[in-house]
Amino acid sequence: MTRPTDTDRVVIFDTTLRDGEQSPGATMSHEEKLEIAGLLDDMGVDIIEAGFPIASEGDFRAVSEIAKIAKNAVICGLSRANFKDIDRNWEAVRHAKQPRIHTFIGTSPLHRAIPNLTQDEMADLIHETVSHARNLCDNVQWSPMDATRTEWDYLARVVEIAIKAGATTINIPDTVGYTAPVESADLIRRLIAEVPGADEVVFSTHCHNDLGMATANSLAAVAGGARQIECTINGLGERAGNTALEEVVMALKVRHDIMPWTTGIDSTKIMNISRRVSAVSGFPVQYNKAVVGKNAFAHESGIHQDGMLKNPQNFEIMRPEDVGLADTNLVMGKHSGRAALRAKLKDLGFEMGDNQLKDVFVRFKELADRKKEVYDDDLIALVGVTADPE
Ligand code: KIV
Ligand code: ZN
Repeated sequence: MTRPTDTDRVVIFDTTLRDGEQSPGATMSHEEKLEIAGLLDDMGVDIIEAGFPIASEGDFRAVSEIAKIAKNAVICGLSRANFKDIDRNWEAVRHAKQPRIHTFIGTSPLHRAIPNLTQDEMADLIHETVSHARNLCDNVQWSPMDATRTEWDYLARVVEIAIKAGATTINIPDTVGYTAPVESADLIRRLIAEVPGADEVVFSTHCHNDLGMATANSLAAVAGGARQIECTINGLGERAGNTALEEVVMALKVRHDIMPWTTGIDSTKIMNISRRVSAVSGFPVQYNKAVVGKNAFAHESGIHQDGMLKNPQNFEIMRPEDVGLADTNLVMGKHSGRAALRAKLKDLGFEMGDNQLKDVFVRFKELADRKKEVYDDDLIALVGVTADPE
């Protein structure tokens, strides 16, 4: 039998429109959600979690419409552990070519206290709700929320119950970003090894970034046997956000030598969707954000610029075009050197001899001391001619 863990392919489950949109202030309009869903589908995301249908009429409508228009992706909606939520979810996702119901309940001691259920009562509820979901849909994902703070014995017990009740994917959420890479890998490995039936379902990882370890924890979970990563564009999500799609995808691509798993994502579509998600959510991307930040492919220091001009691999581990960016950005500032200035002026259409360059370089350094960044127009003015390179 081929077990899900035997495959090298990691399924990318994007939850920008559910967990991402849940972050305070990130609400998107109906049209914006459809646009983002279209871009996710087009870039090769395997599963789109399109919303939480019971949460509002708007969420229900968005999930239903996305289910109708998705070309390739599985469309998933979220529901709590009750029949009403699950039925409403199914009403929305059933329009999809490939629908999935996702249902969850908090299993840690803290989260069990919220509905005030005993361990046995919660176990029964999990069995009933997952069975109900499975009677509606062949593709059912179950999540024990706050799994990483749930007692091992109880976690193993409820995962077994969910599998027996028909769950096809078991998602292990690190809801509060509490786990660490070694623990993340061990937890998945142990669940697969010890829970009866675990080798027949796909294990998934869902990490939050409270300690800045979401990407590392997700990749560690894959090393432990998980074959689905839940993530969002730009790491959008509650508090410090979720695992960033662009980070796990590029990490798997760039370090395939030590992480031999693949995704179906067309990475050249990353930059465009990052910009669109930032625009519609109103959440700016931090300048030094890995992969998609404004400075991720920018170089200012003279040594780095010189190295880049000689061979981009000196200071870049991925090519800008691999993430959909036209080119590396040599930022002209006070740390820039003569070689970069010469290259930049050449790009702008000004070829000059050493003496002229020496003079321009002195004036450029004076200006750079006064300005954070020296723009193309500043350089053109410095050379003392109008911008008409050709
Ligand atoms: O963080 C979390 O636990 C979740 C679940 C609903 C999967 O988002
Ligand atoms: Zn979450």
